[in-house]
Amino acid sequence: MSDYTINPMTSHETGAEIIGLDLCRHVSDEVKKKINADFAKYHVLVFRGQKLTPPQFAAAGEIFGPLMQHHHKEVRIGHPDVYEVKQTEIEPGKYRIAGGSFHTDHSNHPCPPKATALHTVSLPSYGGDTQFVNMHDAYDDLPEATKQRIAGLKALHVFESKFSPRKLRPLSEDSAKELPPPTLHPLVRTHPENGRKFLYLNPVRIEAITGMEEKDALALVAELMAHATQKKYEYRHKWIMGDMVIWDDRSVMHQANADYDMKELRHLYRIMVEDNPKHWIAEGEKTLAHAAA
Ligand code: OGA
Ligand code: MN
Repeated sequence: MSDYTINPMTSHETGAEIIGLDLCRHVSDEVKKKINADFAKYHVLVFRGQKLTPPQFAAAGEIFGPLMQHHHKEVRIGHPDVYEVKQTEIEPGKYRIAGGSFHTDHSNHPCPPKATALHTVSLPSYGGDTQFVNMHDAYDDLPEATKQRIAGLKALHVFESKFSPRKLRPLSEDSAKELPPPTLHPLVRTHPENGRKFLYLNPVRIEAITGMEEKDALALVAELMAHATQKKYEYRHKWIMGDMVIWDDRSVMHQANADYDMKELRHLYRIMVEDNPKHWIAEGEKTLAHAAA
């Protein structure tokens, strides 16, 4: 049985392209298993040549697990779990771009997503790439002293940190009602599927680090971000119509680029895949045990 061809997109196992698979059609359990193994290895998968309606896109996302709801209920499109991303003109000539600085998605949730996927609806004629950086490699390369300094530290993630480098879309009243309370996550986590450690950072949402002065916490986040966003950790995705891209929200951080003509629509469908809450609880306990030791 032929399944698909996979081409690594970098020399450092971050990003791989999948050719020859039509996600509108039934995908066997065997192929699903193979896709998930490739996902654990490459962290970002690019399925080329897809043309998916919102329900078909939702079904493709379910290859990776059950889907999760978005913060902003009002940007739903065509299916209860499918949302949309496009530039929004907030005042004449001024646009808001979703995801325009490095982050990981919905990290203010007690159980943030395992993955996020986007699928093209309309692309600008140039620009609008999405960058991904590998947080396993970034962690591994830290000096031993830094690893010791950050082991056991927890960051407080809120919806929008007062230190966020960019303004987020404001929450509607209905969406605000369902917002979870601020939550603590370790700065260093262990990936539940590949067993590797990774840095878990998000300057958009981190507002404090437990046991640290504000200025020291900000300096630490800035230092770790400068390290983690080096080109050597990056896969830069240039969008082609028909792409469905899925990334692991634990293994990589990502950012959108606002370098295209804002008069040209950049429109993508978006879904998120749930993580298993057990992974996060186990991490929290490990961190507490460390702090008590
Ligand atoms: C997102 C996001 C990046 C992009 O949808 O979570 O950050 O390039 N998108 O649109
Ligand atoms: Mn994002």
